Amino acid sequence: MTQGDGMREVEVGLGQLRQTLRAWGQEHLLAFYPELSPAQKDALTAQLRTIDWPYLGELTETHVRRKPDVSAPEPIEPAPYYPVVPEDPEFYRRARERGMSLIRQGHVAAFAVAGGQGTRLGWDDPKGTFPATPIGRKPLFQIFAEQLRRTEGLYEAVVPWYIMTSAANHAVTQDFFEAHDYFGLGRENVTLFPQGMMPSIGFDGRLLLGEKCALALNPDGHGGSLTALAKSGALADMARRGVTQISYFQVDNPNVRCIDPLFIGLHVGDGADMSSKMLRKVSPKEKVGVFCLAAGKPCVIEYSDMPDALAEAEDETGALKFGAGSIAIHMISLDFARRLTAGKGERLELPFHRAEKKVPHIDPETGDCVSPEMPNAVKLERFIFDALPLARHSIILETDRVEEFAPIKNAEGNDSPESSVNLQIERAARWLEANGVEVPYRDGEVDAVIEISPLTALSAEDLGNAELPARIEPGQKVLL
Ligand code: UD1
Repeated sequence: MTQGDGMREVEVGLGQLRQTLRAWGQEHLLAFYPELSPAQKDALTAQLRTIDWPYLGELTETHVRRKPDVSAPEPIEPAPYYPVVPEDPEFYRRARERGMSLIRQGHVAAFAVAGGQGTRLGWDDPKGTFPATPIGRKPLFQIFAEQLRRTEGLYEAVVPWYIMTSAANHAVTQDFFEAHDYFGLGRENVTLFPQGMMPSIGFDGRLLLGEKCALALNPDGHGGSLTALAKSGALADMARRGVTQISYFQVDNPNVRCIDPLFIGLHVGDGADMSSKMLRKVSPKEKVGVFCLAAGKPCVIEYSDMPDALAEAEDETGALKFGAGSIAIHMISLDFARRLTAGKGERLELPFHRAEKKVPHIDPETGDCVSPEMPNAVKLERFIFDALPLARHSIILETDRVEEFAPIKNAEGNDSPESSVNLQIERAARWLEANGVEVPYRDGEVDAVIEISPLTALSAEDLGNAELPARIEPGQKVLL
């Protein structure tokens, strides 16, 4: 093919593209085309050609021009769950054994979603690199990696780890793992892949240009992780390794039990497709999603969508009726993940949620860079918990807040680095006390700074194998 032919082909292609854009009211996206370099022209047209315009048009109607209905489904009831204190300890013991056996046989993989933008925390690097522990200031990724290393040692099995990043943080995350030699897990057992992106849509239905040669995009939500797992080849890799269960968690919670034999055992024993961990909400307004049964099907109603009347409703004991908070920890069977993604690609049947955001963009008339002070666009995201109603069976396990939930989301106050450190210390103190170590308190708070490395212990029980002091002195710093 001569260069001239090639050029003509590009121009013909461009004519068609322009027509398509015009039909969808998006011709402004080519406003700067004439002034772009050849490489930029290619990049822009390639990006525009990947878009499924009829589908996006449909979403724009239902989610941008109109607002999707987020009223609570009816009839709605609280979801049943396995309590943290077992009614039948023997049943839990057998479940734990089952979970342990699955880990030992290499049937369990870990999966962290780490594609979020961490805006609330004000940390520009990937959230997983945030120094989270009280003394060692270990980054979140290292905490999880060390948990997996100890699990692998205890069970003499590999636990492959999959990490979903986003276009915005993939390269930095990859470099971070390289620089730390994959924290000793073996690079062949750690797979990083970026999640999908969605165009940010202006309130008038027009897409925004992030640069003159590129659309403004946003990550498609952690619900996109199912598609990303499939597209990246991670699901196929899991199948090749004999993995049958995926242990899903968010990057923001240093107290998460990445691999929990009891949870795995209950989930598999009940033949569940997808299961969840929950804890009792501390207040009606706590910012966690709530597990419910909508027309008999399990679901999570996100805190922002929960009507006050339901959030505040009490049961006959005076406790919150809808008090089962989601801490975004799930077990997902590989079969379920494959079933949801088989042949569907972008049309994964999880709904999109609308979030109104301030999206910087290029003004198509003037070419100026605009940083809006008010929300100007809709970001569309999918949530992983919307897969729950699609599960044929699902269980919920209650857990203890101090044991498993110390999230880092905000720069200060609730769910901040400081509140997380306090919870990590409280948990470490509990584990020591469970092993007969005396811990000092002042005004009801632990009067010491204590950090237990995941390489030392994964639970109070596991800490029993370590060499421990008889007591901790007031004000002491203890790193075990
Ligand atoms: C989330 C849950 C909420 C739950 C709470 C528990 C949602 C919408 N809500 O709230 O129900 O009670 O955690 O801590 O998730 N992420 C991606 N890609 C994305 C978006 C997010 O990987 O496109 C990851 C983030 O890196 C983070 C996690 O998902 O690990 C949570 O996302 P975030 O939007 O911060 O949700 P929360 O408001 O914290």
